[in-house]
Parts: sequence; C-alpha cells; structure tokens
Amino acid sequence: MNRRNRILRQSSGVRELVKETRLHPSDFILPVFITEGENKKEEISSMPDFYRYSLDLAVKELQECYKLGIRCALLFVKVPDALKDNEGKEAVNEQGLMHRSIRAIKKALPDLVVMTDVALDPYSSYGHDGIVEGDQIVNDKTVEVLARMSVSHARAGADFVAPSDMMDGRIAAIREALEKEGFHRTGIMSYAAKYASCFYGPFRDALDSAPGFGDKKTYQMDPSNRHEALKEVLMDVNEGADIIMVKPAHAYLDVIRETKNSVHLPVSAYHVSGEYSMIKAAAKAGYLNEEQAMMEVLTSIKRAGADLIATYFAKAAAQLLTRTK
Ligand code: PBG
Repeated sequence: MNRRNRILRQSSGVRELVKETRLHPSDFILPVFITEGENKKEEISSMPDFYRYSLDLAVKELQECYKLGIRCALLFVKVPDALKDNEGKEAVNEQGLMHRSIRAIKKALPDLVVMTDVALDPYSSYGHDGIVEGDQIVNDKTVEVLARMSVSHARAGADFVAPSDMMDGRIAAIREALEKEGFHRTGIMSYAAKYASCFYGPFRDALDSAPGFGDKKTYQMDPSNRHEALKEVLMDVNEGADIIMVKPAHAYLDVIRETKNSVHLPVSAYHVSGEYSMIKAAAKAGYLNEEQAMMEVLTSIKRAGADLIATYFAKAAAQLLTRTK
C-alpha cells in the first residue's frame, strides 16, 4: 500500500485541516416574514421555531442575527386580505408594509444587505405571482408591475430586489427601469431556476399566499428538467442579473452545481420552507439529530456550488458556528 486515505481522517485536527467546505454565518440569507401590528411574534404552525414578526420585533431579531454574523435579510410581508387585488396595487404602495419595513430595517442596520421578494402572490387576490386574466397568468402586464415594484423597493432603500415570479423578460425590464430611475447601485438577485415544488407549502401557510385556483406550473419549472434550468439561468445572466438563484436547494443539488459551473456570478440557493420543516419534523419524531441534519444539509448545498444560502436555519446555524468550543 502506498496510499492510505485514512491518514487524512485520523483525528479531528487533521480533518479540520483538509476540510473542503466551510460554512460561515455570512453565507446565509435570512428570510424574514413581517406582519402588521406591534409586539407580535407568531409561530408558523407548519414551520416549527420560525415566526412572523411585526416590524418592531423583526428589527430586534435582525439586530440579534447581525451580531451572529448574518449580513443579509430577504424580506416578505403578509398582506391583509382587504388589500389584495388582481393588479398588485399594494405591491407598489410606498406606504405599504414592505416599504415601511425596508426603511426601518435600513435605518436600524445600515450595513445589513436588505433584499426584497418581488412577485405578486402575497398581494394577489388569486394567490398567483402575476396578473390573472381568465385562467391565464399574463406575462407582459405582470412584468410592468414587477418593474414598478422593484423601483419602489429601491426608492425605499432595498439593496437588492429578488424577483421570484418566473415571468419571461422581467430581469431586463427591472434592470431597465432601475437604470431609468437612477438606481445604479440596486442589485438583482434573480430566482432564475425556480421549480414548481411542493416544498413551498409551509411558506404559503406563513404568508397565506396559496394559489386560489390551479397551480404554478405555467410559470415555475418542471422538476424533471435540467437543461431548461440552464436556459433560464443564462438568459437571466444576459438580461443583467447580479446573483443567480436556484430553488429549492436540497432536492436540486445537481442544478446548483451545473449553474455554478456555467456562470461567473455568485450563485445562491434557497433551502425552502418544506425542506426546513422536513428536518424539523423528523427531529421532533426522534428520527434524526436536528443540529447534525441541519449542518450536513447546509454544507451539502454549499459543496454543490452555492455561494449563498437562503435558509430558515440561518440563525440556528450561525449560533452553532459562533459557539465557542
Ligand atoms: C413567492 C415566493 C414563494 C417562495 C419564495 N417566494 C412561494 C411560491 O412561489 O409559491 C417560497 C419560499 C419557501 O417555500 O420557503 N413567489
């Protein structure tokens, strides 16, 4: 034997030396669900230990996470039914919860990178990501609203807009609108390869945003397709995206790797609500160890090629990573 592979695994010191993938709190993007009101912290029943916060408490939570080394938040708002319509009026309301949240969070934490979800579903009376006509989700009219919505988020102070709608041509339209309005420093994190996944179920509970009819298969991608993901990714690169996202993450590690090998932009992956809840449920049932499962999955997502990971485990993982041994 002239090669004993176990030499490099013999002790924790040696293993630490040759480790290829290391997680750091600044890898994480923390999704934040914000609701109207004050002093509210509501647990989402299908997402154990994850909460919807009123803006005052969301700011406090983000301050804590910032101290743990988390540098990026991705904002979502829960919109009251009375404000939902089929045009996205509330989505562009500069006094709306999203816009107030951006301003308050940037004021409290100027160095936190604030990203905002751009899609119509939380604002839509139909629960769809775009404007509905008959049984169709219409593309080009939706793109116009998404561009206006992005500019309004930029004006409120968002560092990045994150379009999650999967309409065609929205990255180019958003970039053009931002340029026209003078927002030359606002980035676009494109949900470029977003699949029609059952793993978004708990998120739709959290924001009360499930589609009222049909499903999202005419705009989100078929989970069977890999080439199509690259087509989407490369188009968004050409249209001017700054960061490319693959979503979900755990079930799509192959797509993350192909994306990483195909672009020269930072790649992010969204470890989505259902992927979080699965681990929580299995741990609660005693089937596996929660901390170990969390770290193994997050490490796998990074190893697959994700530079950034949006995850509901961001705080717990950051706590673990910063704990003194
Ligand atoms: C909105 C949006 C969704 C998610 C992020 N942005 C839901 C959907 O597309 O139905 C899912 C996030 C998660 O499940 O954690 N377009």
